Amino acid sequence: MLRVVVCVSGGGTNLQAIIDGVAQGAICNTDLVRVISNNPGAYALKRAKAAGIEGVCVSPKEFEDRQQFEEALIRCVEEAEPDLVVLAGFLVKIPVQLIRRYQNRIINIHPSLIPAFCGTGYYGLKVHEAALKRGVKITGATVHFVDEGMDTGPIIKQKAVKVYADDTPEILQKRVMEEAEWVLLPWCINLIAAGQVKVENGRVTITE
Ligand code: GRF
Repeated sequence: MLRVVVCVSGGGTNLQAIIDGVAQGAICNTDLVRVISNNPGAYALKRAKAAGIEGVCVSPKEFEDRQQFEEALIRCVEEAEPDLVVLAGFLVKIPVQLIRRYQNRIINIHPSLIPAFCGTGYYGLKVHEAALKRGVKITGATVHFVDEGMDTGPIIKQKAVKVYADDTPEILQKRVMEEAEWVLLPWCINLIAAGQVKVENGRVTITE
C-alpha cells in the first residue's frame, strides 16, 4: 500500500477527487493516511473528516517564526510515514529539508501547461488571468515532482483544455479543474502506486 499524505489550503476539490478515486477503485493500492492544512478554516479538512481521514492543521500563526512552523510541518509529515506527499492546492512554500528528504516523493498539481504560466506569483486565478491575457487557445494542468525550484520539477503528466473567446478567469479555472486537474491527479497517484513512474536525469518515464 502506498501511504499518501495530502497537503491542502482551501476548498479541497482535488483532495475530493483523490478520495473518490480511492473509494471507486480508480486509484489502487493507496492508503490516504493524513490530510495536512495550513489553514484551520480550509473546507478540505471537512472533506477529510467526512471520508474518515485524519486531518491536522499546522498554521504558521501558531508559531513564533517561520523556522518553528517549518519544523512543525516537517514533523507532521514525517509522523505519518508517507511514501508520497501530494500538494493539492497547498499555498505554502515547502521547506527545503522536506524536499531533499522526500526527493521524487512529493508531487504538485499546477493549473497550466508548465512551463507556461508557472513560477513565482502564478497561483489560483492569477494563472488563468495570465493565460487569457496572453490569448492562448489551449491551457491545462500539470502534475510534477517537487524540486527546490518553483514549478520546475520533473513533469509526470499534463492534460490540455481548450480556451474559448468569451472565457473569464473563473470560467477557465472551473474548466481546467473539471477537465484536467480532477482527472490528472488521481491518475498520477495510481501510476505511482503501481510503481509505473520512474525519474531519470530529471525526466519522468511511465512504464507499462
Ligand atoms: C487548484 O487549482 C490547484 O491546481 C491549485 O490550487 C487549486 C486548489 O483547489 N494549485 P482545491 O483546493 O483542490 O479545490
